[in-house]
Amino acid sequence: MIIQEGIIYVNSLGEDLLELSARTRVSDGIVNAGANINQKYCEGAIIPRQPWQSATEDTLSKIIANGNNISYGNWIDIIPIPENLLHPFEPLQQSSENGRSDDEINSLIYQKDEFRNAIPNIVEYLESINTKNKCHANGVGIRANPPGCLTVTQGKDRSCYIGLHLDSWYRYPLKDRHLSPNRVCVNLGFQDRYLIFINLTLTQISEMIASKSQHTKTQPRHEFDLLGPFAELNSEYPVVSISIKPGEAYVAPTENFFHDGSTLGNDCADVQLTILGEFFTG
Ligand SMILES: [Fe+2]
Repeated sequence: MIIQEGIIYVNSLGEDLLELSARTRVSDGIVNAGANINQKYCEGAIIPRQPWQSATEDTLSKIIANGNNISYGNWIDIIPIPENLLHPFEPLQQSSENGRSDDEINSLIYQKDEFRNAIPNIVEYLESINTKNKCHANGVGIRANPPGCLTVTQGKDRSCYIGLHLDSWYRYPLKDRHLSPNRVCVNLGFQDRYLIFINLTLTQISEMIASKSQHTKTQPRHEFDLLGPFAELNSEYPVVSISIKPGEAYVAPTENFFHDGSTLGNDCADVQLTILGEFFTG
């Protein structure tokens, strides 16, 4: 299936086509996780269908901003975090490099105040790069995840992985989802991590379902119910993966597009810092 224009990658790093294509891959579609043997998925979870392939120039042109199509809730970006602000988190990166497990690193995060105490400087930096930026106090946290996971987010009781999902800190109704606060997620680990996502806004997903299913199925009533029907009707639609290098952060409207983090192919634990808020570009 040909990828459509939707969620836009701003590319404020100004990378050229070669660098962008080195960062970007696309999956062979989307699939119900049912039979996945590598990770235990929750019932109904939807995941990228492998293998991952490099993105063609045509695909990149659908994903990357061309200067006139960015609006609140429909863009992602990657920003570098200054080295001096990352310095206090170095023990976490070293633990990742030295092969400590995600559990060991999470204990370290929990026990030591120095990591929590270093977050306000990152908040201050994020608010300084655009005067409209505003970080929220809720949802701030550092967390380690295991390496080698196609998707990293687990359900509340941590008994299974949830697959592609919407974040739901704010629970705006479907029609207002694009106005939800967005999220910054810093890679504090030793290896690249991946933001994987369906590059469509929730409104686009909802419209695509409606256009294909009007004669057959009842309409989904809730925004969380949209992914199953979408995957069923558009199983060829690719999931995009963008690599986030150590010291970089992604900014993304995680309440308005189906996404997850990925550590597939890594052998060191992933460490990430999340900050919610209202972040602007340009
Ligand atoms: Fe999420």
